Amino acid sequence: METEGKISLSDPRSASFVSSERDEVCPFDPSQDLVRMREGDELPRLRVSHPVHGDTEVVVVTKYGDVRAAFAEKNLVTGNGVDPALPRTLYNHPGFLPVYSGPEHVRLRRMLTGSFTVREVGNLRPAIEKIVAEHLDAMAEHGPGTDLVEVFALPIPSWVICELLGVPYETRSMFQRCSQVIMDGSAGTDQLVAASAELNAVMADIVDRNRSAPGDGILGRLIQRHGTDLSDDELIGFGTTLLVGGHETTATMLALSVLALLRNPRQLAAFRDDSSVTETAVEELLRYLSIPAPLLRTAVEDVEIRGKTIAAGEYVLLSPLTANRDPEFVPDRPDVLDIRRRPAAQLSFGFGVHQCLGQQLARLELKTALPALFRRFPTLRIAPGADIRFRRESTVYGVEALPVSW
Ligand code: HEM
Repeated sequence: METEGKISLSDPRSASFVSSERDEVCPFDPSQDLVRMREGDELPRLRVSHPVHGDTEVVVVTKYGDVRAAFAEKNLVTGNGVDPALPRTLYNHPGFLPVYSGPEHVRLRRMLTGSFTVREVGNLRPAIEKIVAEHLDAMAEHGPGTDLVEVFALPIPSWVICELLGVPYETRSMFQRCSQVIMDGSAGTDQLVAASAELNAVMADIVDRNRSAPGDGILGRLIQRHGTDLSDDELIGFGTTLLVGGHETTATMLALSVLALLRNPRQLAAFRDDSSVTETAVEELLRYLSIPAPLLRTAVEDVEIRGKTIAAGEYVLLSPLTANRDPEFVPDRPDVLDIRRRPAAQLSFGFGVHQCLGQQLARLELKTALPALFRRFPTLRIAPGADIRFRRESTVYGVEALPVSW
């Protein structure tokens, strides 16, 4: 493979902008193509297909220091607000935070940050413990052979985000289905528009009800505090962004963490038997698994990275996966899962002004659910004969299903 100029991954059809490009042998590791890019001194350019921008050339940034610097670079932006010329999908909707930059992003994000502080999120702990316990009971009832994604990993964050937002949990099968389409990097524009419209219609009803009688979820509180500053469209966008971003990501991370621990029995034993490692283990799992697909930015001015110029107008892809596994960032065996590793500033939640708003919530859910699962089912294992399929084309890398026994 070339390391400069235009390059393509082995199968150009898989070079969707989200394609996580994992290794053929170890499904948690970056592909050899990506590792070679990181080892080279160039900033390779690649043709990818993007759900909003179509067939596009991107500059790929893979080294830890470069990715972090690019996240912090004010002239590399996520978007310039909603573009009426582009199809109306979640990715191009008022209130979808990543579409904004500068003061407009600050104005909107500020309205939400108060609901996601460590303290505010910490208040949810008893509710999360209860919902985890209930789902462990449900798993026991289903019995061995059950799909951990369906009975545990997906319902827990779905329930939590519904509670937090003030969205009826009965809508879950609709929003889980729509979210999967929205996060599927290979979905066509028509599918994205249809899934976003279905989600918006339900959210519009919920916003309407909260306008008439504000509930005690985030949407109700937003209306009470900022109701006159926010349009209904912005509230709908806030609601759908948090609903989609708040469940699928954490669900994916829960299931993939279980799989990674099951495939590393010594690490699993340490995790199960020593509750003092939970904190570092979750941080290490976030680093090691690095579930977000590469994140897109656009240069609004010429920008220098590693002494190379990225011209105004060029697209840039930032890879948290290769960054988090970079030996310059983690000198000691970066490709090994070590749950006692001293946490460093891993990039799975991004960095800079768009850094994940829900990261404290995601951490709390992982720290609550994972130890409880292995305590309740100490002999948990992958069900015999299970065929584990990975979602390679999703904006978060994970498994389709995880059949388990005990
Ligand atoms: C393990 C779980 C999660 C992972 C790995 C994750 C990852 C990320 C990443 C990488 C970004 C930055 C995107 C960029 O820079 O372009 C982000 C942004 C965001 N995340 Fe998360 N996330 C997770 C959970 C959550 C949860 C639970 C919520 C909500 C309750 C959430 C809401 C958001 C929002 C609203 C943004 C946009 C922030 C902005 O643009 O200002 N995420 N997330």
